[in-house]
Amino acid sequence: MIYLTRRERFNAAHRMYRDDWDDEKNLAVFGKCSNPNWHGHNYELFVTVCGEPDPETGLLINLKDLSRIIRQRVIDPLDHKNINLEVPFMKGRIASTENLAIAIWEELEEPLRHKGITLCSVKISESENNFVEYKKNH
Ligand code: NI
Repeated sequence: MIYLTRRERFNAAHRMYRDDWDDEKNLAVFGKCSNPNWHGHNYELFVTVCGEPDPETGLLINLKDLSRIIRQRVIDPLDHKNINLEVPFMKGRIASTENLAIAIWEELEEPLRHKGITLCSVKISESENNFVEYKKNH
């Protein structure tokens, strides 16, 4: 099995909070990321697809298809946006990196499948030392 990863970067603002909690409880649970006046991160996104290379070309996929789908479905809606307020696929979800990884998976899986591409992992880093990764069993 070949695993091929495309890296993309985006900047976005967010706030970690629950409406039904006061600022004090949000601060206790979410820390600095609960700042009521928002804050930003430089996110890195790693989208991994997998499968066997085409015997005719030696290639797993068409990289142009992969980067176009990621850009249209995920990067354009997220880059320089407020994740809580402006990103349709994050509506109604707490703006955690964990939820972002799941939402990005949901945005990408079907359009990639249309191109014969199997999604294997969505990994996001919000800061240098923290990564989350979402995978599904096929
Ligand atoms: Ni944050």
